[in-house]
Amino acid sequence: GELGLVAVGFSGGQTKEGVDDGPQVLIESGLLTQISEELGYKIHGDQNVQLFKELAPTADPDYRGMKKPLHASAVTREIAKQTYEQSRQGRMVLTLGGDHSIAIGTIAGTAKATRERHNREMAVIWVDAHTDINTPEQSDSGNIHGMPVAFLTGLAKDDNEEYFGWVKDDMRISVKKLVYIGLRSVDIPERKNLREHGIKAFSMFDVDRHGIGRVMEMALAHIGSDTPIHLSFDVDALDPMWAPSTGTPVRGGLTLREGDYICESVHQTGNLVAVDLVEVNPKLVTAEDAGANETIRAGCSLVRCALGETLL
Ligand code: ARG
Ligand code: MN
Ligand code: MN
Ligand code: MN
Repeated sequence: GELGLVAVGFSGGQTKEGVDDGPQVLIESGLLTQISEELGYKIHGDQNVQLFKELAPTADPDYRGMKKPLHASAVTREIAKQTYEQSRQGRMVLTLGGDHSIAIGTIAGTAKATRERHNREMAVIWVDAHTDINTPEQSDSGNIHGMPVAFLTGLAKDDNEEYFGWVKDDMRISVKKLVYIGLRSVDIPERKNLREHGIKAFSMFDVDRHGIGRVMEMALAHIGSDTPIHLSFDVDALDPMWAPSTGTPVRGGLTLREGDYICESVHQTGNLVAVDLVEVNPKLVTAEDAGANETIRAGCSLVRCALGETLL
């Protein structure tokens, strides 16, 4: 297959440094070699990690409670251009982050390309401990990585292009075509958003009750066949046992096998158009995982499974 790579070292959607090193460390551990040599993809796009330092304005004051909004807006706007360009050509788009704010760009770009190519509204499977659906006004932290889904669904909008006004209707996704898996840390206003818009969500409670096999059946049934799927995988969906090196770890998460299974079953649909892997922060190390090796290995495994690696 043909794959469009977008490697983004961006950390401005939250306040811990190190998540901008995520893509470089994933690549150094051999991910691209695995993708091209073992899985047989031809890789397009910039194979160097893009840091977008030049897009950082000299002053970036809070706006509607968002921290560093101008930088995040400029970076995600550029990412949207790149994912659009790759997806428009029918390539599988792989984005390596970076914090989860970058999904504003990755999804905006593929949603637009998918509308043009297939004349269909794309679905999003958002695998995460968190829902990342706070509007700026609802957010307690002001961190934009907790807001991408609000901007992508239109729950949050802005008139100003310099902020997120560049996210137009054809770049948005429907709340009806959004499915969450792995949730266990959802803010009170976010819960209200899910309820009011009837958003499909499978928490860890559902994974425990039904098992991941049944959860994936239900998730994919909700989306429907013949619908292009964008998989946005926040590595903090995994339990910190498998992925400790991440900015907002929450215990009680998915096992690595459950994470891989999600990726494998989405791949099997044949409808996957894009994958994001985000929030790998190699600077946040624990005593047991000194080099962030476990988190990196887990991240590589998830991506390989989404791109079609099989066990037999
Ligand atoms: N809900 C919290 C917030 O709004 C945490 C978000 C964590 N997001 C993430 N992509 N890790 O700040
Ligand atoms: Mn998360
Ligand atoms: Mn997230
Ligand atoms: Mn695997």
